[in-house]
Amino acid sequence: MTAADFARLEQWFSQFTAGFADLDPEGLRNIRLKEEHTRRVVACMAEIDAGEGLDAPQTLKALSIALLHDVGRFPQYRRWRTFRDSESDNHARLSVEVIRKERLLSFLSEEEQLEIEEAVRFHNLLELPQRFASSSDRFTRLIRDADKLDIWWVFLEYYRQPQEERASAVGLGFPDLPEVTPACLDALAAGEVVRLEQARVLNDFKLLQISWVYDLNFSTTRCLLRERAYLEQLAATLPDSSQVQAAVRRAVTSLEVV
Ligand SMILES: [Fe+2]
Repeated sequence: MTAADFARLEQWFSQFTAGFADLDPEGLRNIRLKEEHTRRVVACMAEIDAGEGLDAPQTLKALSIALLHDVGRFPQYRRWRTFRDSESDNHARLSVEVIRKERLLSFLSEEEQLEIEEAVRFHNLLELPQRFASSSDRFTRLIRDADKLDIWWVFLEYYRQPQEERASAVGLGFPDLPEVTPACLDALAAGEVVRLEQARVLNDFKLLQISWVYDLNFSTTRCLLRERAYLEQLAATLPDSSQVQAAVRRAVTSLEVV
């Protein structure tokens, strides 16, 4: 992978996303959100790559994965008007479909294509899969970390905005009620990743996002997360109960043990 290859993919991405400009204002806002998310995930990926000492060709491959990981979001939103996979289709699978249909990686060897497709395909799984067809799971672990770093940012922005200006699809439609669901709180308190199926209200979704700290792969990501204090900021939007705050404290403390 060369810098010119990556530049071509970037150009393709700009044209591809411009193809959704005909949506209504709410749709446009949601589409723009994913476009900007993608660009920031590329930036997060560059930071993690630098911290982890990837060489130039590996960095370009990782940046390409970041650029392509969510391309399925665009057809998903056009067709179903939601980013909720359970109400539409797995967006990672859709991303691979777009990559193949558009023949974006045909200039690479089969092994490299497989590596990139696997990283895209697995970026949103609850857990890393046991088996990989390609020789390394490194890129899957990288995109999972880079994606999380930006999703934390997206949600903090979302909570900062007045309700009427929020891009509707970000909160996945969870009602913003004052409670938390015990199963979600228990999972976080036990140092586990909260499952999306257990989440019923927006606060559960926040607990889920805090629990991602237990699913990070690289010390550079932990470092960046500490620096940016996303967990503390998320915690500040949660109910001030001692159980909630204790579970959050455990998550924050886990970042210090590297
Ligand atoms: Fe995604």
